[in-house]
Amino acid sequence: MSIRLVIESVVFVYPDGTRALDGVDLEIGPGELVAIVGQNGSGKSTLVRHLNGLLRPTEGRVLIDGRDAAHFHVAQLAAQVGLAFQNPDRQIFAGRVRAEVAFGPRNLRLRGATLERAVDEALDAVGLTGAADANSYDLGYSRRKLLAIASVLAMRTPVVVLDEPTTGQDARGVARVRSIVERLSAEGRTVITISHDMRFVAETSRRVVVMRAGRIVLDGTPAEVFAQPNWPALASTYLEPTLPARVGARLELGSTPTEASLVAALAARAARAAQEG
Ligand SMILES: Nc1ncnc2c1ncn2[C@@H]1O[C@H](COP(=O)(O)OP(=O)(O)OP(=O)(O)O)[C@@H](O)[C@H]1O
Ligand SMILES: [Mg+2]
Repeated sequence: MSIRLVIESVVFVYPDGTRALDGVDLEIGPGELVAIVGQNGSGKSTLVRHLNGLLRPTEGRVLIDGRDAAHFHVAQLAAQVGLAFQNPDRQIFAGRVRAEVAFGPRNLRLRGATLERAVDEALDAVGLTGAADANSYDLGYSRRKLLAIASVLAMRTPVVVLDEPTTGQDARGVARVRSIVERLSAEGRTVITISHDMRFVAETSRRVVVMRAGRIVLDGTPAEVFAQPNWPALASTYLEPTLPARVGARLELGSTPTEASLVAALAARAARAAQEG
C-alpha cells in the first residue's frame, strides 16, 4: 500500500513568471514521516501540489512508484496522494460536513457501509463527529481546517500530505493533529506535513526538509537539521531552532534532548555551581 515518491529536478514557473521551484530533487520512501519547512513563499505548497497532480512541473519529473506522474490522470493520483490544502476554503465546497467528507471516498468508488465507515472514522479522528450535520461554512476556521483534513483521511490514501495543519489550532487542536499524524505513520502510510511550528516539527517528524527560494537547503533528521552548525542556514530562511535545541546545544546534549535529560543536566549544573560557590 505504500509508494515511493521521487521529485526529479523539478522547476515550476507560475503563469505570471514566478519561479516557485528552482530545481528540486527529493525522494520520499514508503512510510516516511517528513516535515517540509521554510519561510513564506519558499515553495512548500507549490512542491506538494505536484504530488497529486494539481500542478505539473515546468521542467523535471515526478515519479510515483517509478512511473512518471504525467501519465496519471488527476483522479488516479488522488487515489494515491491525499492533500489537505493550506487554505481549507479552497477545498471545502459541499453544504454539510458529512457530505464534504464523503465526496473524496465516493469519487474513489467507496459505497455503502464501507463509505459510511470511512466517513465516520475520519470525522472521529478530527473530533467533528458532533458536527456531521452542520453546514461546513458555519464552522470556525480551525474546525474548517480539521474538516479539510478529515476529507483527506476518509480517502485512505497511501500518502497523506497536510499543508499547515496546525495553523489556527489551539493546544488541543495541535495535539489532535499530532495524534492523527502519529496514527497514519503507525499504519505505515507516508505522511508529509508542512509547518511553521518548529516544536511540532521536531516532535512529530523523523525527517525535516528545509526550503528556501524554491530549493531544498537542508534535509535530515530533526536532530541533524536543528543542530548548531545549521543555525545560520535555518536563520537564512527565517527559522529558529526549537528552545530544546538551543538549550540542548548549550548543555552539550545535542539538538533534540529529552525533557528528562534537560532536567538532569540543569540539576547537575546547579549542584556544581553550589559546590563551587
Ligand atoms: N497562483 C500563484 N500564482 C503566482 N505565483 C504564485 C502562486 N502561488 C504561489 N505563488 C508564488 O510562488 C512562490 C512559492 O509560493 P508557495 O505558496 O509555494 O510558498 P509556501 O512556501 O507554501 O509559502 P507559505 O509559507 O506562505 O504558505 C511565492 O513566491 C508565491 O508568491
Ligand atoms: Mg504554503
